[in-house]
Amino acid sequence: MTQDEMKRAAAAAALEYVEDNSIVGIGSGSTANHFIDLLAKSMIPLKGTVASSIKSAERLESHGIKVMDLNQTGPLDLYVDGADESDAKLNLIKGGGGALTREKIVAAASAKFVCIADESKLVDVMGKFPLPVEVIPMAQSYVAREMVKLGGQPALREGFVTDNGNIILDVVGLEIRDPVGLERKINQIVGVVTVGLFAARPADVLILGTPGGAQIVTAS
Ligand code: A5P
Repeated sequence: MTQDEMKRAAAAAALEYVEDNSIVGIGSGSTANHFIDLLAKSMIPLKGTVASSIKSAERLESHGIKVMDLNQTGPLDLYVDGADESDAKLNLIKGGGGALTREKIVAAASAKFVCIADESKLVDVMGKFPLPVEVIPMAQSYVAREMVKLGGQPALREGFVTDNGNIILDVVGLEIRDPVGLERKINQIVGVVTVGLFAARPADVLILGTPGGAQIVTAS
């Protein structure tokens, strides 16, 4: 099975969590794209969806699936999204696609967060994948210096502007042994909009695509 087929297998298994006539939060990235395509095929009747990026909203609409404003929906039952890394406690690094802020908002507003990923995303200690941090442009250098103090090496994601008009610093060199503590520390740096660590609100379920099919992982 290719990596892409494993992503698709995880996305297919997440359909089980979708209830008829519900409003589903939908993430961003190639695995979430599979989920969007499979959701459209499934014909599960939905009230609508909330998208965590403009790209995902466009993909949903291209299938004729209704996209709603989170301010109009109230709390969501379910959020389905991919990840760049997960540890065994289902703390995540997200934001490889740059949609981390809206992803964190939709995850926060959802009762259940089902993360879908191929098996390569599950790691012992997070930090090999550069940690994305969305930053107000004026604060770029200040936040970069603060990230160095935390032991990381930040690099500006060149030529990239988030859906919210901000920049991304990708931070390498961090061994994330205390995800909750590090998320809190980075969130407190002035100028940071969002750090792509999802630890205060981790995933509730991780569906891993493996060569043997989809495997459900719960926090250990
Ligand atoms: C988007 O900003 C990210 O958080 C994605 O969820 C993450 O990059 C996973 O992407 P893939 O599903 O493409 O691996």
